[in-house]
Amino acid sequence: MSVSVLNSVAVREVRIGLLGCGGVGQAIVQALTTSDDRLAEAGLSLTCVAALVRDPSGPRAVSDVPLTNDPDAWSRYECDVVVEVLGGIEPARTLVARTLSAGIPVVTANKSLMAAHGVELQALAAAHGTSLYFEASVLAGVPCVNTLARRPLASGRGAWAGIVNGTSHFILSEMTRGRSFDGALAEAVARGYAEPSSDADVSGRDAAEKLTILLHLAGHTDVATADLPRRGIEGLETWHLEFARRLGGVIKPVALADTGHDAGCWVGPAFVPASHPFAQVEGVTNILSIGRGASAVLFSGPGAGADVTALTVLDDVVEAMAGRGPVNQLAPEVLVPAAHRLREPRTGAWCLALDCVTSNAGELAEFLAANHLPAIALASEGSRHAVLTATATYAALIAAVDAIEASGVRVTWWPVVEVAHG
Ligand code: HSE
Repeated sequence: MSVSVLNSVAVREVRIGLLGCGGVGQAIVQALTTSDDRLAEAGLSLTCVAALVRDPSGPRAVSDVPLTNDPDAWSRYECDVVVEVLGGIEPARTLVARTLSAGIPVVTANKSLMAAHGVELQALAAAHGTSLYFEASVLAGVPCVNTLARRPLASGRGAWAGIVNGTSHFILSEMTRGRSFDGALAEAVARGYAEPSSDADVSGRDAAEKLTILLHLAGHTDVATADLPRRGIEGLETWHLEFARRLGGVIKPVALADTGHDAGCWVGPAFVPASHPFAQVEGVTNILSIGRGASAVLFSGPGAGADVTALTVLDDVVEAMAGRGPVNQLAPEVLVPAAHRLREPRTGAWCLALDCVTSNAGELAEFLAANHLPAIALASEGSRHAVLTATATYAALIAAVDAIEASGVRVTWWPVVEVAHG
C-alpha cells in the first residue's frame, strides 16, 4: 500500500483483488470511478488489480481489469484487500480462507457462504489478525450488519422480523397490482435483483440464509439454514392476495425468528395487517425489525440490485482499510444455542385460504371452531374463503388443516405478523 497526496489530503493507494466479475463485480469496478471523489475524501484511492472469473471471454461492461480463470494466477497479484462476489460455496470458501490465512482482509456479499461458513471464517480471520466484512450479505443497500455487530445492546436481541429478499418482495408487490408471477419474476431478473438461480429467491432459501446470518450475529451460532422452516412464494395465487386485502392486510415474504419464551421461526409468505410497518413498503425494498415492542429498531432500504450492493461492498472496503473491526468476534459466553427452538412457527394468529369448500361461510366457521381454530374474520366469494383465526399453536393449526384437507378441500395457510404494541 502506498500513500499519495490529493488536495492536501493523504490518500492511500489500495489494491483490490476481486473474486467474481458478474453483475455486482462489474458494478464495483464501475463504482471505483464514479465514487472516486467520495473515496478520496475517505482517504483512499482504490484500484482493482485482477478479477478471478469462471469465463474470461464472457461479455462484460468493464474492460480495464485483468481477468483470469486460474486461481493460482489470480493469487500472484498482490493486493491489500480481497472482495468476494463469486456467490455460492466453492471455490469462494477455499479462496476466502486462503486469503484470511495470509492475513489479508476480505469483504464479501455472499449470503450462502456466510450462512454456511461465516462463523468458522470469522474465527479464521481472528486467528490471523485480520477481518471478514459482510455488510452487503443482508439488506444489500442498508447498513445494518456492522451496526448490529458493534451495538449489541442498542440493537436488542431475541426477536427478528423482516422482509429480507428483494426479488420475492418485488414479485408479490407486482402481483398485488394484478401482474403475473412469471412476468414479475422476469422483470426482477432483468433488473438484476435475483440470484443467478432465481429459485433461491422464490423458494425462500436466500431469506433463510440472511436470517441465519442475523442469528449468528446475535450469538446463536448453532443455527443452520436447513433448521429454519420455510416455504416459497411459488404457490401463491392472485385470489390469495385479493382476499388478504379484503381481510385488511397484504401477503409479504417475511423472515421471522423469536428466541424468547414463546420461540419459533418462519421464512415464507405471511399475512401482514395494513397497519404494520411492513405493509407500507413495496417492491425491492427490504425492512428489518430487531427487538420487541417499543424497544425494537427498524432498518429499511434497497434490498437488492448490483449498484446498491457495490456501494455497500466499497463502504466495507473503507471500513477494512480504516482498521475498523473486526466485527462480531463473539466471545464464547454469548454463544446461545437456539436451533432446536426455531424448527416450527411460533404460536399466533393464522390466515387460511380455502378453495373448493362449502359456499356456506357459517358452516366453515363452525367447522373451524370445532377444530380449535376459531375464525375472527372471514372473506368469502362462492366456494373460496379466507379466514383470520384467533391465536393458536402451530400444532392446533396443523391438526385443523389436516382435518379440512381430509375432506378434499385445498388449504393454504400463513402466519399473521403481529403489530407491535409499545
Ligand atoms: N437476490 C437477492 C434479493 C439479492 O433479491 O434480495 C440481494 O441479496
